[in-house]
Amino acid sequence: MKEQIDQVLNDINKLPPMSNVVLKIMTLLQNPSVSIQEVANEISKDPVITASIIKLSNSAYYRASKPIRTVSESLMTLGIKTVKEIVLLTATKKILNKDLTSYQLDAEAMWLHSLIVAELSARISIAKKTNIPRDLAFTSGLLHDIGKVILAQFFPMKMIEIKNAVKDSFRAFTDIEKEFLGYDHQEVGRKALETWNFPEELKEVVSCHHNFDDSKKFPKLVACVHVANHLAVISGIGIDIGGLSHEISKPALDLLGITDQELEIYFTNIPEIQKAITELVSV
Ligand SMILES: [Fe+2]
Ligand SMILES: [Fe+2]
Repeated sequence: MKEQIDQVLNDINKLPPMSNVVLKIMTLLQNPSVSIQEVANEISKDPVITASIIKLSNSAYYRASKPIRTVSESLMTLGIKTVKEIVLLTATKKILNKDLTSYQLDAEAMWLHSLIVAELSARISIAKKTNIPRDLAFTSGLLHDIGKVILAQFFPMKMIEIKNAVKDSFRAFTDIEKEFLGYDHQEVGRKALETWNFPEELKEVVSCHHNFDDSKKFPKLVACVHVANHLAVISGIGIDIGGLSHEISKPALDLLGITDQELEIYFTNIPEIQKAITELVSV
């Protein structure tokens, strides 16, 4: 089973398509001295991404100070980081918007779950003054469960077996995934991001979001996503068979300095967050 998964993960052509333009943009943006013109030229090669950048730049969510008509205007007004966030949002929607029947999650619930975790991770990071750039916290939350999408897409029958095993077990869901597949969705997600050549920070979040103690280099970022994911799951957004089998990590809460009272406040803010991201749901 592990070999079968490796075959999918090691071949970029077998993975769900992450558009070449997105991969190129991600690489370009890792260079801090990249020019707006270079980024705009690359983006303009993908009409779908171009359209959603212009649409979202003018949305209430991103609140540009003036009407945006072109990608260059968007880059100049909102900044490269925000545009990167929008590029990934559009690309991820395409991938996450798959029907995850075997995980008891439909595509829309999965997308909503990812967006809530993205927004909540960003808000927690800002509230707790972590100094993590907003777009990084947001994108990390957005991608955290990407491994689930890949597993559900390529191994639906195995997923049904896992689902049945989970029903009569109190073990952590990721342990059961490992027993049946040799990998859990965190490892699968990490390998996909490796194949796509994504940055280290994102790989660590994807591979440790349920096991905070495993995070080594970017514990604050992992903690934000871990807490955000937990709150989204207990609020019933994107709840799935394995959702409640993991506990919230006390060391993660301590690292960020989140009190019980603050946790409660984040939780009660979820309906408002859901409203704030309405425009992102229909990218
Ligand atoms: Fe997960
Ligand atoms: Fe999740």
